[in-house]
Amino acid sequence: MPLSSSALLLFGATGDLARRMLLPSLYALHEDGLIAADLRITGTARSELSDEAFREFASEALAEYLPEDRKDDTKIASFLERLQYQPLDASTVEGFDDLAAKLGDISGGLSIFLSTAPFLFEPTIKGLRSAGLTGDNVRIGLEKPLGNDLASSRVINDAVAGAFDESQIFRIDHYLGKETVQNLMALRFANMMFEPLWNANGIEHVQITVSETVGLEGRHGFYDDTGALRDMVQNHMLQLLALIAMEAPADFDATSVRDEKVKVLRSLRAVKPEEMVRGQYGSGAIAGEAVKSYDDDLGEASDTETFVALKAHVDNWRWQGVPFYLRTGKRMHERRSEIVIRFKCVPHNIFAERGGKLAANRLVIRLQPEEYVRLIVMAKEPGMDRDGVTLREVPLDLSLTQAFAKARRRIAYERLLLDLIDGDPTLFVRRDEVEAQWRWIDAIREVWAQEEMEPKHYGSGSWGPSAAVALTERNGVSWHE
Ligand code: BG6
Repeated sequence: MPLSSSALLLFGATGDLARRMLLPSLYALHEDGLIAADLRITGTARSELSDEAFREFASEALAEYLPEDRKDDTKIASFLERLQYQPLDASTVEGFDDLAAKLGDISGGLSIFLSTAPFLFEPTIKGLRSAGLTGDNVRIGLEKPLGNDLASSRVINDAVAGAFDESQIFRIDHYLGKETVQNLMALRFANMMFEPLWNANGIEHVQITVSETVGLEGRHGFYDDTGALRDMVQNHMLQLLALIAMEAPADFDATSVRDEKVKVLRSLRAVKPEEMVRGQYGSGAIAGEAVKSYDDDLGEASDTETFVALKAHVDNWRWQGVPFYLRTGKRMHERRSEIVIRFKCVPHNIFAERGGKLAANRLVIRLQPEEYVRLIVMAKEPGMDRDGVTLREVPLDLSLTQAFAKARRRIAYERLLLDLIDGDPTLFVRRDEVEAQWRWIDAIREVWAQEEMEPKHYGSGSWGPSAAVALTERNGVSWHE
């Protein structure tokens, strides 16, 4: 693995992501001694802050977002000493020399975390280059949104590629930093029992649900320009699909894993109009609290979707004829990220004559808020069976929270920031993956435009529009709820 960087530069250092995720994550790495004692962290953003004011800002963020049991005054004080700040208007190259001066000697390696408005990508890269901050010992982490279609993502990727080699570019999809998402690979490739069935012979269909109860969360402009398809499906859900559908990589390394994922993404079949549902939340109630409709939250009428359901197909030998049902939405019934694999029924029911009914096995992989893997199998109800055999579904449960009760649950950015600093790109998204993702998403949006497909309304607190139920029921399949 390449050497760890000795300096970290955070763009957008006074933004929401920094406050809620990045600073608390960096503190956790500091507290656990996972980053070198001499790693300096420089924040930059437009605001005119002094080093002292930035430390104050970070200290407030930690007070607000660190769990109580992680707050250690001495360690917080030593963490804050690592921080410094340089104001910068990234739209012009002028301030970048001062930024380089503030960073000082970067011969020990520099990692940059760039989370910025899309229009600032190009000027920022230009500025970094002009100030000598793009050499071989620099790597750059890019936070989404990286464009909003294939063409605009190419513009950003080309701009970055003009200054950095692909091996230095770390595109972030925070789902890949989640422990349970990495566990998908362990489940599939560290166990013998699933893989022989993991194909069209053994599996009837796959469901991936990422439902949220939150609404706009103050991100009005961004969300309304983006919508659920581009906010969630283009990245997180397609990465989950790729991890479920990919062939076994030869090794757990960046090239092997990403080579296999990209093959899946390139095999996605274009979605037909009848295989897609767009939705937008209306008013309703979440956990007993009344909530407003999307238009009311936004303050104007909009045709942006806050819900999408799709029937996807991976056109290769392994997955021929196996639908992947995807759905995601805001203001839904509950917060849940889950993958359900429904296996085929046994070929012959030997209990039929005695009244025994069979259901197909299911593997439920709950990523959040709980973390578990549950295999639903058939079992006979205890009894003398004078009136026939009763078979019931029972769960074989592996609760990851209990099995690894002593291991601290880390947030995704802790892992991703550490991998960026250490230079391990395995859990980052390669350019060819992003482009394959966009190609598929753009084709869906073209259908929406051609068909003038308006979002269907669903009540907040529900599981989405009724058309999403019809999407699966048509094939005799129910969503796992
Ligand atoms: C982000 C989206 O990428 O993921 C948000 O922009 C969404 O709209 C979030 O809420 C969900 O992430 P998580 O980790 O809470 O499932």
